[in-house]
Amino acid sequence: MAEQEWVKMKEVFKGNYTDKKIKTRGWIYRTRSSGNIVFTVLRDSSDVLQATIKKGNLPDKEFEDAKKALVESSVELEGEVKEDKRAPGGYELKVTKFDVINFAEVFPITKDQSPEFLLDQRHLWIRSQKLSAILKIRSTVVGAIHKFFRENGYYEFDAPVLQPNQCEGGSTLFEVKYYDNKTYLSQSWQLYAEAGIFALEKIYNMGPTFRAEKSKTSRHLSEFWMAEMEAAWMKLDEITEVAKDEIKFILKEVVENNKRELEILGRDASMLEKISKAKFPTITYTEALKILEEKEGMDVEWGKDLRTIEENNLMNHFDTPVVVTNYPLEIMAFYKPKDPKDSKTALCFDMIAPEGYGEIVGGSERSTDLDDMKKRLEDMGEKIENYEWYFDLRRFGSVPHSGYGVGVERVVAWICGTDNIKDAIPFPRTVLRYTP
Ligand code: 4AD
Ligand code: MG
Repeated sequence: MAEQEWVKMKEVFKGNYTDKKIKTRGWIYRTRSSGNIVFTVLRDSSDVLQATIKKGNLPDKEFEDAKKALVESSVELEGEVKEDKRAPGGYELKVTKFDVINFAEVFPITKDQSPEFLLDQRHLWIRSQKLSAILKIRSTVVGAIHKFFRENGYYEFDAPVLQPNQCEGGSTLFEVKYYDNKTYLSQSWQLYAEAGIFALEKIYNMGPTFRAEKSKTSRHLSEFWMAEMEAAWMKLDEITEVAKDEIKFILKEVVENNKRELEILGRDASMLEKISKAKFPTITYTEALKILEEKEGMDVEWGKDLRTIEENNLMNHFDTPVVVTNYPLEIMAFYKPKDPKDSKTALCFDMIAPEGYGEIVGGSERSTDLDDMKKRLEDMGEKIENYEWYFDLRRFGSVPHSGYGVGVERVVAWICGTDNIKDAIPFPRTVLRYTP
């Protein structure tokens, strides 16, 4: 049967099917029976709908099946849509045909189970209303990122996932046996993007990214999706504005397309909409320390990276994401250049989200100083010859260029208001988990 003959549950709530006969299909979300009546709540990918199955309204065999069918059984139904104030959403289906496609076994997930158990059952738990809502928002976020860059003249450009070099420091590399050699899973698309801009000038990408993060935090995954951009000729002050526009665009798309999902998650859409129209401030690292000292009484030594606690306390003073530039050069990756106007700092930035979601974007101008990069890599114990191809990019028509990466799950977690970044990806990978 053609797809359009099956009515999606959310369509019922628009009122176009009232007192009409429809066919719908999905899974049993909740069910209880008493005597000659079964009350079932069905779900499909669009919503949940209450159905009542009364003996006599359908063949006896089908009524018995309805009584027997457990939660998560898959079903195809026919029935009449009725308005009913008592039903969730104000509508219910009076069932006249109940075909069970698969009688489910006893579903392992019931109420009040531990987060670890739910992660073990992730393949089943993604069916929950909460996770479905997050996954729909994630889909909007990913779509928005593609749309944003394509509408602004960027080409999509792909890099290898298996890479011989580090980009963000050797300590978080995942090593992979590569025939008789070894290689690493991508920590970033960036170094290859820096080659790509000489052909395409403005490029972007979104792909799986790997970091062996040994600490357990609510912000770190071992495998996550990073959305990166790189552009020839652009300077720090330009890419920070691109990053702000991108995040605002993502928020607008979610607010426009996911009202229902935000409601399910208890997330205030008007707050997100307000942020999508607000100005995001830009401050320097040094100014951030000053805010921490003056307004939070925190004495952070100049030169230390901002930890979670510092980021969170800083964000007590902002309702929108904030761009922090000019972190201390010493603690930055080898490719981040010195700021000629403030040589202890780098031409780099992080964007920090409100409400304790931390760094959602990281980026910088890229160094064009070969000697400096070589020295910094050597100091980290890197084999310089592995980077010769990258150094070539500074030898053949080098231009100023910049880029940044957005942590897709960090953004999704913030927009959805989840407690843990693990819920922002279908199958999380962390230091303690690589199953299912
Ligand atoms: O700040 P990061 O490490 O920047 C880079 O990798 C640059 N090479 C990007 C670039 O300039 N093209 O990572 C970028 C963002 C962070 O701001 C954070 O949002 C996210 O990626 N991120 C993580 N998200 C989840 N789990 C992790 N372990 C993450 N590490 C970074
Ligand atoms: Mg960073």
